[in-house]
Amino acid sequence: MLNLAVIPVAGRGTSLLPLTKSMPKEMLPVGNKPVVQYVAEELIQNGVHRLLFITGPDKQAIENHFDINPELIRFLRQSGKEDILAELAFEREEADYFYTRQRHQTGLGNAVLCSERFVGDNPFVVALGDTILGYRSRSKIVERMIQVFEQNRDAAAVIAFDEVPLEEVVQYGIAKPKTVSAEKNGGIFGSVFELEDIVEKPALEDAPGNLAVAARYVFSPAIFDYLRKTAPGIGDAVQLTDGIRLMIQDGKTVLGLCLPEDEPRYDIGDFYSYYKAFTDFASLLPPLPSIE
Ligand code: G1P
Repeated sequence: MLNLAVIPVAGRGTSLLPLTKSMPKEMLPVGNKPVVQYVAEELIQNGVHRLLFITGPDKQAIENHFDINPELIRFLRQSGKEDILAELAFEREEADYFYTRQRHQTGLGNAVLCSERFVGDNPFVVALGDTILGYRSRSKIVERMIQVFEQNRDAAAVIAFDEVPLEEVVQYGIAKPKTVSAEKNGGIFGSVFELEDIVEKPALEDAPGNLAVAARYVFSPAIFDYLRKTAPGIGDAVQLTDGIRLMIQDGKTVLGLCLPEDEPRYDIGDFYSYYKAFTDFASLLPPLPSIE
């Protein structure tokens, strides 16, 4: 039973400075919750209950957020604020939280490699801690990815993809699909396809398409062998995408799955995507009580 997710949250968040100078970008508020709480809740509702965060310097706020805070609970109870107490229900989610620190900030591939000893011989999910999937994180894509992984015994990875405008391919890992079997049924959405190649942040003219890695992956532990061999790539960082590419070149089966067309994806990567996420989620909140 695949029950473990690795959540990399070690990135510096430089595109969101000065907001992220002392605040992890994964803790930025979107509506009434920080980004990373949506990610944890999404995983839990997809049946993944063991969450290993790969943290870095100045990320302690994430650990504090998932801790139970007995003092705060007592204070709210004693002051009769039971309704506010309900907002802390997530503290009691059926989940185990684990943390390890990436000691050298050398890229996403290296961050995932930090989980190797903890993961052992089991398949696992990787969920990037700065991306919310679905309205209020109601996405079921991870559950579907786990099913696909378990039904395809020879698959070494299943990756979620999202179609992006061509000018945005430079921001993502981009797939070159081998098979697009469902094209006749109204496009690639919902269908499983095999990858022929994958490229991290290609230039527009080199992009093999516009299917972008959508921040969720299921891996067999074989990925670690390839990440160990992965040389620094774009940005002089060890890229997870390059590890996946080595795996494909070595003949392993890597499958892709597209997010449903109506499911939004919020990659909190810059101010524009952050504002969009915030305004969309804030508009879903109940109206503020009127002030007399
Ligand atoms: C990372 C991955 C990229 C992926 C993206 C999804 O990039 O390297 O392949 O498409 O997340 O959000 P980053 O956003 O860290 O630059």
